[in-house]
Amino acid sequence: MEKSIEALLKEGRTFKPSASFRKDAWVRDEKPYRDAAKNRLKYWESWAKQLHWTQKWSKVLDWRPPFAKWFVGGKLNASFNCVDRHVEGGRRNKAALIWEGEPGDERTLTYADLQRAVCRFANGLKALGVQKGDRVTLYMPMIPELAVAMLACARIGAIHSVVFGGFSAEALRERINDSQSKIVVTADGSYRRGQIVPLKKNTDEALVGVSSVEKVVVFRRTGQAVDMGGPRDVWWDDVVKDQPCVCEPEPMDSEDMLYLLYTSGSTGKPKGVKHTTGGTLVGCFATTKWIFDLKDEDVYWCTADIGWVTGHSYIVYGPLANGATVLMYEGAPDWPDKDRFWTLIEKYRVSIFYTAPTAIRAFMKWGEAWPRKHDLSSLRLLGSVGEPINPEAWTWYRQVIGGGRCPVVDTWWQTETGHIMISPLPGVTTLKPGSATRPFPGIEAEVVDEQGKPAQSGYLVIKSPWPGMLRGIYGDDERYEQVYWSKYPGWYLTGDGCKRDKNGYFWLLGRVDDVLKVSGHRLSTMEIESALVDHKAVAEAAVIGKHHEIKENAVVAFVSLRHGYAGDDRLSKELREHVVKKIGSLARPDDVIFTVELPKTRSGKIMRRLLRDIAEGRTLGDTTTLADAAVVRSLKEKYEGQEA
Ligand code: WT7
Repeated sequence: MEKSIEALLKEGRTFKPSASFRKDAWVRDEKPYRDAAKNRLKYWESWAKQLHWTQKWSKVLDWRPPFAKWFVGGKLNASFNCVDRHVEGGRRNKAALIWEGEPGDERTLTYADLQRAVCRFANGLKALGVQKGDRVTLYMPMIPELAVAMLACARIGAIHSVVFGGFSAEALRERINDSQSKIVVTADGSYRRGQIVPLKKNTDEALVGVSSVEKVVVFRRTGQAVDMGGPRDVWWDDVVKDQPCVCEPEPMDSEDMLYLLYTSGSTGKPKGVKHTTGGTLVGCFATTKWIFDLKDEDVYWCTADIGWVTGHSYIVYGPLANGATVLMYEGAPDWPDKDRFWTLIEKYRVSIFYTAPTAIRAFMKWGEAWPRKHDLSSLRLLGSVGEPINPEAWTWYRQVIGGGRCPVVDTWWQTETGHIMISPLPGVTTLKPGSATRPFPGIEAEVVDEQGKPAQSGYLVIKSPWPGMLRGIYGDDERYEQVYWSKYPGWYLTGDGCKRDKNGYFWLLGRVDDVLKVSGHRLSTMEIESALVDHKAVAEAAVIGKHHEIKENAVVAFVSLRHGYAGDDRLSKELREHVVKKIGSLARPDDVIFTVELPKTRSGKIMRRLLRDIAEGRTLGDTTTLADAAVVRSLKEKYEGQEA
């Protein structure tokens, strides 16, 4: 890691906004930064005023660390702001969602279409007994109905908890149980690389022994045969069939919960991150407009899955709050061929494109010929999110995809922050490949050392509350305080390492805790370890990330076995599939290394640093605190033998 950081900081190239981009950009100068610094609350309030409230707030911020309330006393409805406001305001017949399925089917929903669909499903949910404050789990393909279901929940004040379709039945069960959801909305299946992901079957498996769920609503996507014989099963079509196209939006308190989203932390149990209505909407609205320089004529495409926070903020709430035209695609980038994304950009004349470094590195590997086959001249801005982007990938992205004319915005944020925190403003900021540059106006970020003093290199913290910040972990205020606020009381600890350069630019260095980023997906090493020790053959497990050219990290599991089990290829495969069953294929270990013992300190702590050294083939760091140095030596020999 250190070596690539040095390379990053030596990265000397800079890119000023072009005159032609700057001319029409929403932000052209430093004024917003100055305004926000002068009066942060007034600045955020000016954003809030651009949305529709049925009751105005009495106070912008109530901050009792670590608990914040924004736009206190205000009332609004997220679905009204994302849909009705535009229907009434002149965008009735503008495309809201342009969708393409993996097999090539197409649908377009105007804002008026979206309004009808949202209202009918909202009425359907009510008819199923859903009330304000109830949790609804959405385990769905990337189809318009997922956005419709989210907005329908928001309309009636139900709290959605979207679970990524790549999670396994067991992971789904854990999330349903934690949120005590009353309803699960799913589909028969979902297309991925020409295969069908059996969502309904997974849901049935997940619901064994679950008592909170009263109904399972199933959208017919693939048409494959599914078992609808359960007492809770209902088809989506039947839920909406006789429902009216009008549904009065519930006036929600600004601090009422909008959604829950589970993410991995440094323990085995996923955290239900709580986001509230007013702050989420204001933060997503503002950042989408300025960072993507979003205009009415744009066709905006964020390639994330809505199962992750990026999809929540930058497919649904941010762009729709702005009245944008959003492209949504169901499937894989390499299906049926490695130019599917470029085909889509050409076909729909996409102008803003937002994707992840892991995808960009895959495109680089597949070669320039694929994008070169297509007319990408509609593009005017490119974005990146999810992990640090290496300067090579950044430069390739700008040149090959952006034709050298599009600004690249590298956007840093987290599930917890709710919206982008550090990013260029494309009409203002001089870009440096590999740097997320500087905090968005109104965000106070700092890099500090162990003592909390500003440092060139250290921990990234946020020093004051912001509208979209998480309001806690569902059902666990103590964990919320401990994880994010205990190291530096009053400051939010991000869990990321960061450097500042001589211009004050931020260079993100990745996680400093036990969170792993694999292809941009967030995994907890402890979660994978618990999945492994759940297998009868496993005594102990330690999971680490090893540098990977495309995925950023590969998952490496060091495993010691119980008496009577042999660490052979068959068991290795079985353990990898066991992790898939417990969590999902996104967590499947790339390597399983069997060892008689794991290297531990005398106090019994597993020394992951040494495991990382072994996996990455480095000479071992300090081993003086090891209880038994022979363990590491033999492990290193063994690993090198296996690699050879
Ligand atoms: C973690 C949060 C933010 C939405 C998608 C991921 C890493 C995210 C960047 C970036 C360097 C980044 C951080 C962060 N990360 N964006 N532009 N540069 N690192 O959300 O799953 O909650 O993951 O992703 O490590 O802490 P998430």
